[in-house]
Amino acid sequence: MNTEVIKLTEENFKKSIKKGAELIRKEEVVAFPTETVYGLGGAGFSPLAIRKIFEAKGRPQDNPLILHIGSMEMLDDIATDIRDYVYLLMEKFWPGPITFVLNKKSVVPMEVSAGLTTVGVRFPSERTAQALILEAGLPIAAPSANTSGKPSPTNAEAVFEDMKGRIPLILDGGQTDIGIESTVLLSTGEKPIILRPGKVSYEDIREVVASVEISAGLKQGEKPMSPGQKYRHYAPKADMYLFVGKFNDVASRILFEEARWELEDKKIGILCFDETRERYSSEHVISLGSYFNREEVSRNLFNSLRDFDKLGVDVILSESVEEKGIGRAIFERMRRAAKEVVNV
Ligand code: TXA
Ligand code: MG
Repeated sequence: MNTEVIKLTEENFKKSIKKGAELIRKEEVVAFPTETVYGLGGAGFSPLAIRKIFEAKGRPQDNPLILHIGSMEMLDDIATDIRDYVYLLMEKFWPGPITFVLNKKSVVPMEVSAGLTTVGVRFPSERTAQALILEAGLPIAAPSANTSGKPSPTNAEAVFEDMKGRIPLILDGGQTDIGIESTVLLSTGEKPIILRPGKVSYEDIREVVASVEISAGLKQGEKPMSPGQKYRHYAPKADMYLFVGKFNDVASRILFEEARWELEDKKIGILCFDETRERYSSEHVISLGSYFNREEVSRNLFNSLRDFDKLGVDVILSESVEEKGIGRAIFERMRRAAKEVVNV
């Protein structure tokens, strides 16, 4: 299959959205940008389209997809028995980077929910995503547009790397703004539970609802509540070691490890921040941006992991961030990319 990439401009926007929406209605798969990462979209009520998505990604069948909506009316078509606190959260954070897991209506095919009675729903804020959903006139099922097990794509080039020859169209809207996937909030119970941390943080949610939990599955070794948690995600090809501790101690330890790995003739990559990059002599140092600019760090993370793949390093020695606010989401992605977390 030939994969067309359309770079979106003001001039071709409408026409390109029409083309994408037409393919979606014909049960084909189209990659498109959202404010978090690129999605691999298909008609939300079509088992055939859903099967094509799973195939293109090589995704395990028991991992459900989320439905993307372009209006609140679409929400009523797919979810039922929605709790009051959910509406409060929607009012505050939608459209935006948070997915609510809700009781599904029977029109949502079991291919989407992977046999569960719930469905994840997100109303993205990105203009292209909204336009595509509204033009298609139905919810769009979309996982991140990466091959299963690779970092989520934050630009069209990364989507093309993974999806070339597998899907007919990629809508190229440039680099995504947030760079990590949405917060996933299980919202069927009395209290919401964070299944996947994201830009909308624990602290943000706490400002709206009195009580919110963080899923036990987010801690290593415990039983996952969301199917997605049990898979090792975001894995770069190299073995990544994540060093956790005080800023200065971490940098010193990485310098020490760098010297040690060099003796073994390994090609070493270092993932750090603007504040520390000068300390390292290794050829392959990538800075995620300023340690203090978490938005910049989250935007750059997945692309940096893909860059290490291209550089062909054997080992990645990585600094980490504090688990606070969006830092919790960044840390979780780093932890899951890592072979080992080393407490310094
Ligand atoms: O930001 C995002 O959420 C991106 C963009 C494209 O919207 N999408 C995305 O989808 O990251 P995906 O499929 O890569 O991740 C969705 C996560 C998975 O970990 C999945 O297991 C979980 O949400 N999930 C989906 N439906 C669920 C359900 N009914 N119950 C529990 N977890 C669910
Ligand atoms: Mg994904």
